[in-house]
Amino acid sequence: MAAPKVAVVGAGVIGLSTALCIVETYPSCSVTVLSEQFSPNTTSDVAAGMLIPHTYPGTPIHVQKQWFKDTFTYLFAISNSAEASEAGIHLVSGWQVFKNTPKEELPFWSDVVLGFRPMSEAELQKFPQHQFGQAFTTLKCDCPPYLLWLEKRLKATGVQIYTRKVADLWELHSEYNIVVNCTGIGAHQLVGDKKLFPVRGQVLKVHAPWVKNFIREGDGMTYIYPGIHRVTIGGTREKENWNLSPDPGTTKDIFDRCCSLEPSLQGAQDIRVKVGLRPSRQCVRLQREVLSQGGVKLLVVHNYGHGAGGFSVHRGTAKEAARLVQECIAVLQGASSRAKL
Ligand SMILES: Cc1cc2nc3c(=O)[nH]c(=O)nc-3n(C[C@H](O)[C@H](O)[C@H](O)COP(=O)(O)OP(=O)(O)OC[C@H]3O[C@@H](n4cnc5c(N)ncnc54)[C@H](O)[C@@H]3O)c2cc1C
Ligand SMILES: *[C@@H]1O[C@H](CO)[C@@H](O)[C@H](O)[C@H]1NC(C)=O
Ligand SMILES: *[C@@H]1O[C@H](CO)[C@@H](O)[C@H](O)[C@H]1NC(C)=O
Repeated sequence: MAAPKVAVVGAGVIGLSTALCIVETYPSCSVTVLSEQFSPNTTSDVAAGMLIPHTYPGTPIHVQKQWFKDTFTYLFAISNSAEASEAGIHLVSGWQVFKNTPKEELPFWSDVVLGFRPMSEAELQKFPQHQFGQAFTTLKCDCPPYLLWLEKRLKATGVQIYTRKVADLWELHSEYNIVVNCTGIGAHQLVGDKKLFPVRGQVLKVHAPWVKNFIREGDGMTYIYPGIHRVTIGGTREKENWNLSPDPGTTKDIFDRCCSLEPSLQGAQDIRVKVGLRPSRQCVRLQREVLSQGGVKLLVVHNYGHGAGGFSVHRGTAKEAARLVQECIAVLQGASSRAKL
């Protein structure tokens, strides 16, 4: 059989990392990335890119933990290489603080991040409004650099990348054997996954190079995430809100909340406001599907719905999607050997 032709639709962190994982695992595949938008115009470009998992209620915890571990291990190696600054990957230490002691003692990811421990009384003095906190070191992906680095890696392995809006999966069936759906919130519009909904997030990207540690309130609503060039401060979680325009009242509210956690942010400069729609779902849709229409079959692998935590699990879910692509290839090979008989 000729090399299977795989189209990956979507060029956010999920599409690009999935395409890369497929070519790395199965170099004999011919992989093409098709997307309506590219960096800097995706939801992934708005994200802070911190590796702190969000919990998907519909996915077993051990699976989510494995996705996070795979992602952490992969990015840790990049952070420890000469590529780190170009790829925008770096370690960052900081604190997650709580007004009240949290109910569950330890988050499921506490032994994946580095040096997770309760904060000392002395450290807690930095946060007079908080009772309790946890200190740890994790990784952060700076976007757009990380997306551009992934694109560069893809081009270097011969992957073709085209701007194209896919209105219907079936338009791809004559050119490709397998379609991988990494369209994020875009999956809502196409054939309408009603289980997928937007959770609007507004953030400010500011110049405040003296802020070196991350600070996050335990509920995840207010956070300060320093990157290589800018500090992302946020945020909001507004379910079912599709509005991509920044709201000035929200900007002021975010700024005030973050200054109350880190007063030195009063001196932040060059404040840029960004809005993104988290593609949210009870669980990531990571599954194989065979569509058929008039006797013609199209093999699809879905990988979307990463909600508030796409960066934290992207490599793990890309690995799983690549495995599902392998299953599709086996189906195609079975079909072509039957055809020869
Ligand atoms: C404010 C904010 C902060 C965040 N912070 C973090 C964080 O710190 N850590 C973390 O882990 N996660 C974070 N997230 C979540 C993270 O951004 C998402 O989970 C992740 O970006 C989803 O990636 P994606 O590739 O699925 O979607 P996207 O980045 O939206 O990419 C989807 C791609 O599909 C393309 N597409 C869609 N429909 C079509 C179509 N019909 N035809 C062709 N192409 C199509 C789009 O053009 C785009 O290229 C944050 C999100 C927001 C909004
Ligand atoms: C991003 O969007 C802007 C405004 O629509 C457009 O001019 C630019 O070409 C886009 N960038 C990419 C890489 O698609
Ligand atoms: C992605 O999946 C959604 C939900 O099943 C579907 O509506 C959409 O057509 C798919 N898009 C692509 C490009 O695969």
